[in-house]
Amino acid sequence: MSTSSNRQMKLAAYVMAGPVSGHHGGWRYPSAQHDILDVRFYQNIGRLLEDGKFDMMFVPDIQALPRRLGDSLASQLTHGALGALRLDPMLVLTAIAASTQRLGVAATISTSYFAPFHIARSLATLDHLSAGRAAWNIVTSFQDAEARNFGLKEQLSRDERYDRADEFVEVACKLWDSWHDDALMWDRATPQFADPSRVAPIDHHGRWFDVEGPLNVSRPPQGRPVFVQAGASERGKDFAAKWAEVIFVTHSSLASAQAFYQDIKERARSFGRDPDQVNVLLGMVPVVGETESIAKDKQALLDDLCDPEAGLSTLSYQLDVDLSPFPQDQVLPDLEVGGVQGHYREVAELTRKQNLSLREIGKRYGVGPLRDFNGTGGEVAGRMQEWFDARACDGFMVQMPYLPGGIEDFVRLVVPELQTRKVFRADYTGTTLREHLGLDRPAH
Ligand SMILES: Cc1cc2nc3c(=O)[nH]c(=O)nc-3n(C[C@H](O)[C@H](O)[C@H](O)COP(=O)(O)O)c2cc1C
Repeated sequence: MSTSSNRQMKLAAYVMAGPVSGHHGGWRYPSAQHDILDVRFYQNIGRLLEDGKFDMMFVPDIQALPRRLGDSLASQLTHGALGALRLDPMLVLTAIAASTQRLGVAATISTSYFAPFHIARSLATLDHLSAGRAAWNIVTSFQDAEARNFGLKEQLSRDERYDRADEFVEVACKLWDSWHDDALMWDRATPQFADPSRVAPIDHHGRWFDVEGPLNVSRPPQGRPVFVQAGASERGKDFAAKWAEVIFVTHSSLASAQAFYQDIKERARSFGRDPDQVNVLLGMVPVVGETESIAKDKQALLDDLCDPEAGLSTLSYQLDVDLSPFPQDQVLPDLEVGGVQGHYREVAELTRKQNLSLREIGKRYGVGPLRDFNGTGGEVAGRMQEWFDARACDGFMVQMPYLPGGIEDFVRLVVPELQTRKVFRADYTGTTLREHLGLDRPAH
């Protein structure tokens, strides 16, 4: 395990290819840009993150425009909430890869609605085109609305989703390994483009998939893309411990983040993995200013721009529960939740500890529940180091409250403070995302 003196913080940026990345009031903030349908908006963000030496840019995704709150599209569309509009992450990230040299590019792709051959091929392509910077956020999806966009009445049960995901990732790994690293020869004279003895079918036959292979793309530079995951149910945590190299979590207290961190590292060990090959990144929404009072004013304005209904609308689809029948001035009762367990845990914890009404929960959810990372660059960096040193995480998934200004502030004010404290790189030392994250390249 790395010692405290040389342990380096990992930084990823959570960038929605849509209106909200961290704060539901963000797109209404006066300096927020609205050209989210223009490729140059994302390319500028990629370059800003690379200037800040970020490990990677992470793009979340879902497969539906949610109408979970009151069976209506109105709340998402009116408030420009988290699910209101989403571009395809793979296409956005290909454009980012083309305009950066070092930044990792992480795409969210569901194992419940696509086929392993298709996804293995797209990700191998992204890893080649980015020269070894691709990552895959492996999600199992969580809403019936997504299933209905793919010819199904409802989604598979949680266990079935994870069974399918396990086999999906296994097949994808076989496909990436269907070419040996040295299969491509490019010998003009003989001629020998590729060595047929170094490429082979996979002939996979399982419960969910029958795939002959081989892939029609050579083995990716990183062997396979970096695996990211964010499941929080028992099955989700086991899946993460088995496969994930980066785990994205949200917590509203240091103690719960520390407990999760310990638990997931133990689980990784029980799967025979080195816990240092599993990086836990904690979601945070930093509001940074040159002075404390500038940061406070910014925070107040942002919060003022967030309607509680925006948060409730997003929470409804993320829990896959219609919250409209519950009285907003009362505390949310305990629920059976089919959706994201991590988000429910966080909201239940807030409700229990602070006795918040549903309306207050909506507001807190909309503005980002973890409020500890606001202030001057020094204050934010100090708090990040505190959580990092306390082994609550190995780094952060920074969710900028508004774009692109939130990134500019973070890179200008927080990153230099982290570098001065020697907990974050002054420059990239490698070229691939695996090298940035200190991850082994999987052998063939
Ligand atoms: C912080 C966080 C971010 C997530 N982002 C996404 C996402 O972008 N797309 C998605 O389909 N699921 C997302 N999820 C859901 C999970 O990755 C997972 O597929 C889902 O929660 C079901 O797993 P669970 O039952 O173990 O929670 C996210 C979950 C968490 C906790």
